[in-house]
Amino acid sequence: MSLKKAFEPYFKIGTSVSWKNLQNPKAMEELKKHYSSITCENNMKPMFFLDEEANCTEPEKYHLAPALRFEYAKPFLDAAKETGIALRGHTLVWHNQTGDWFFKENYSKDENAPLVSREVMLARMENYIKGVLEYVQTNYPGVIYAWDVVNEAVEETEKDGWRDSLWLQTIGRDFVVQAFRFARKYADPEVKLFYNDYNAFWPVKMNYIIPNILEPLCKEGLVDGMGMQTHLVRGESNLDDYEKAVETYGAMGLEVQATEIDIHVTDPGEGGMQVLADMYRRIFEIYTNACREGKAKVTAVVFWGMKDDESWLTGFRKERSYPLLFGDNWEEKEAYKAVMEVAEEFNSTHLH
Ligand code: GLA
Repeated sequence: MSLKKAFEPYFKIGTSVSWKNLQNPKAMEELKKHYSSITCENNMKPMFFLDEEANCTEPEKYHLAPALRFEYAKPFLDAAKETGIALRGHTLVWHNQTGDWFFKENYSKDENAPLVSREVMLARMENYIKGVLEYVQTNYPGVIYAWDVVNEAVEETEKDGWRDSLWLQTIGRDFVVQAFRFARKYADPEVKLFYNDYNAFWPVKMNYIIPNILEPLCKEGLVDGMGMQTHLVRGESNLDDYEKAVETYGAMGLEVQATEIDIHVTDPGEGGMQVLADMYRRIFEIYTNACREGKAKVTAVVFWGMKDDESWLTGFRKERSYPLLFGDNWEEKEAYKAVMEVAEEFNSTHLH
């Protein structure tokens, strides 16, 4: 059995993939066995598509239409094409991993250089989105099935939830709607467009995302799905809120994808791993129940990392994390077994 087969009737099972994974035959074998969706961990982020050297050397030439490069993304596009595993495009518009120079007059790296006007930034945004989508759709038709068009535009605060980013400062609050208009204009019709965010199940954040981001997009038919990153923490994340959020986004008629799942747990012993397994069991029950009860169209459930020792969380949290289904030597953890049990129970009750 494998993860993707177990959940095949309901949703894709995905993982993020690093450059290192692509070089490792064992990782590729696991990839083909367990996953029906892959997300490139880093190399398809704006800083990799935007050709810093070309733009900064010849700013006049690329003033409105930034020079792009595809050599970082290519190995991931090739791997997706060769294995036949569908690729989630991640991500077009983000405040992070995007050079500040992209927003400056003359693509200047000077900290004090002025930001470009709204008109110029809109042109840069349009040409960048157009360039990326046209490249992948021409050279890798059908390989990318969904794009995170905008990532993390909102912060979790009671007051003004808009994140203060250079996108916001140059274009204004409608940068999200503008990005989706361009994505819709240039994306192949079958490609699904997502808004993606972390802690999107915290009530305070969800209550901001819905009226400020999703409803305006829905009104224009620009968004197909909500990406819930799902970076959870043992003892902190409220899974009742998580369940409500899956159903609330689902009730808007949007697809729901869990796009970057991991659960921060620092105890690799039996106790810690049992808590991890219980949390995974619960969230997978949330996804399968939502599908069964028609409360949300969950279309992909994606892990952020293939095995524990490769997880970004250890660096980010500055303590060793054991957040995934597979251990350092690819061993199946209790959490893996728990997730597979959810599929078995679900399949035996509902498919026959
Ligand atoms: C966010 C981004 C991901 C990744 C993680 C940390 O969630 O969306 O691309 O950078 O942070 O690894």
